Amino acid sequence: MRKNLLIANWKMNKSYEDLGVFVKGLDESGFLKQNKIDIAIAPSFPFLEKMGSLLKNTSVRLGAQNAHWETKGAFTGEVSFSMLKEFGVEYVILGHSERRQYFKESDQDVAKKAKACIENKLKAVVCVGESLEERKNKQTISVIERQVNAVIAELPSCEHLVIAYEPVWAIGTGISATVSQAQEVHFWIRTLLAKKFYKEGSDSVRILYGGSMNAANCKDLIQEEDIDGGLVGGASLEAKSFSEMLKNLG
Ligand code: PGA
Repeated sequence: MRKNLLIANWKMNKSYEDLGVFVKGLDESGFLKQNKIDIAIAPSFPFLEKMGSLLKNTSVRLGAQNAHWETKGAFTGEVSFSMLKEFGVEYVILGHSERRQYFKESDQDVAKKAKACIENKLKAVVCVGESLEERKNKQTISVIERQVNAVIAELPSCEHLVIAYEPVWAIGTGISATVSQAQEVHFWIRTLLAKKFYKEGSDSVRILYGGSMNAANCKDLIQEEDIDGGLVGGASLEAKSFSEMLKNLG
């Protein structure tokens, strides 16, 4: 019922020249035009226009990694959702743990971003996840609950909402959550969604896993009932490794 979704989170990586090489690689492996799985690529802001034109007339969608909740005004260095829309962006990653950690984004900031994103009819990919210390202290569920509830409190419906469960200790470390650790949290997220949006709403929301997802572990993760795809960093940077994942999911 829920179509799997794989999003490439390029973070602050790649150059202008790399874009064409990547898209050519995806084309050669047959993933530019297919409809088995939804795919999006989220490059850095300066590359959105070029990536958008390379992806024109393909089934791969354009993503961005952040935006401000205001539409316009005196917010030096910020970018609004309506600006992203002008460049054909469809998915926006929000509240990534790196933004929470290095840029001090609070749950309330992330909630305001998600609300503005969805008001602009863009898909909000809201990231949540516990640190290693929080997991060790058995606070995983309470952290996830706090982060998810802050966002859904602001939303009248869950249309256009995607959640990404990304345990902070699994991001970029090569240590993925186990299938059962991930499924347990995904199930809990869906239960939280159902409290506000009822079963019908919660059944429609895609919950992605992120944190050292790669070609070797993606299939087992995605086979779980409540895991509907992935938010992929390292393994999404080269067309070869990203295509390898897509092949294993297909
Ligand atoms: P990773 O990053 O796949 O390199 O662990 C995932 C993410 O931060 O979204």
